[in-house]
Amino acid sequence: MNILAIESSCDETAAAVVSGDPKNLDETLKLESNVVVSQIDIFKAYGGVIPEVAARSHLEAILPVVKKALKDADKTWDDIDAIAVTHTPGLLGSLLIGTLTARTLAILHNKPLYAVHHLKSHIYANWLTNDSLPEFPLIALVISGGHTQIIKMNQHNHFDIIGTTRDDAVGECFDKVAKILGLPYPGGPAIAEKAKQGDPKKYHFPHPKLTSAPRDKNQPDNPSLDFSFSGLKTAVLRTAQEIANVPISTPSGELKNLLADGQKADLAASFQKTAIDILLEKLGQALTENPDVKSIVIAGGVSANQALRKKAIQEFGEDRVFFPEPKFSGDNAAMVGASALYEIKSGVEPTDPYSLNILPRSVIS
Ligand code: KG4
Ligand code: ZN
Repeated sequence: MNILAIESSCDETAAAVVSGDPKNLDETLKLESNVVVSQIDIFKAYGGVIPEVAARSHLEAILPVVKKALKDADKTWDDIDAIAVTHTPGLLGSLLIGTLTARTLAILHNKPLYAVHHLKSHIYANWLTNDSLPEFPLIALVISGGHTQIIKMNQHNHFDIIGTTRDDAVGECFDKVAKILGLPYPGGPAIAEKAKQGDPKKYHFPHPKLTSAPRDKNQPDNPSLDFSFSGLKTAVLRTAQEIANVPISTPSGELKNLLADGQKADLAASFQKTAIDILLEKLGQALTENPDVKSIVIAGGVSANQALRKKAIQEFGEDRVFFPEPKFSGDNAAMVGASALYEIKSGVEPTDPYSLNILPRSVIS
């Protein structure tokens, strides 16, 4: 079975062809092509994503990207058995370009359409190209620009969120700290690079301990597995103001001109160490509370971080912890295709391209 997958949830326009026999996916799943057009160069100039600009850039790129994915895979529409698309979560305008393209192509070429959740796809990046595969039950740590979640999976396509952030996502925290230090967008890779020259023990930042139940009743009620990253971002800001010897009313945008290069490197290294320690402490706690877990899967843009990978392997063992190949940590459509194939294996039915289900959730509610 050949799936044409589309991803456009943030600032990457991506399409891929992924093939596999749903009855025997672990052995047959194969990446036939993978095309990603990134808008990073546009948003470097602004220091972050502008949703309206992102949507317009998706509109320009999406059809050539789909065409290239088919060409690279050496497939025509006759070879494609189904279309998969990210339908939520993400930026509304960006998601609309992907979902409207996918539903139009599904209607035009008479193909079944699968609407796939972005975070599930990040998890399934671990089934794409790795030699060995995770075993169930497993715990997934999904760390991206918009989410920080601990998810237990007892089987394929079964997701139980057992921990989540109460405020900022960890990737967002990397991006905002990078901005304070005057490092380019996206902040994650820039912080990781700067941290190499700094002392991770120079500054001590707090590790939040949550004890109260979440205000949102839909969130999991286990404070010990929840995250909070907004305080860490503020702690970096206050330390930067202190070492620059300026009052706390000094705007964060001015600090990059007041800090020495070595101070920036020490702040980046100490921040990165704290963020990684917080993530891995909570992950360790989740493992203690779920002793049946066989594998740990780390996914999402922040999972590209090499210091995090090293420490996770040290703590949990190379055989037990899984990461996607680094190029599949960030947003791509190959993971959407893999996720859709495992949905099909689990008996999920396609979505009617004319129904509201295909639209991003925020359009419906
Ligand atoms: O999964 P992703 O590509 O998009 C979302 O679904 O949000 O994640 C993007 C996030 C950004 O916040 C980016 O700064 C972060 O992943 N990121 C990293 C690294 N590479 C990307 N964070 C830390 N270290 C990295 N090497
Ligand atoms: Zn993502």
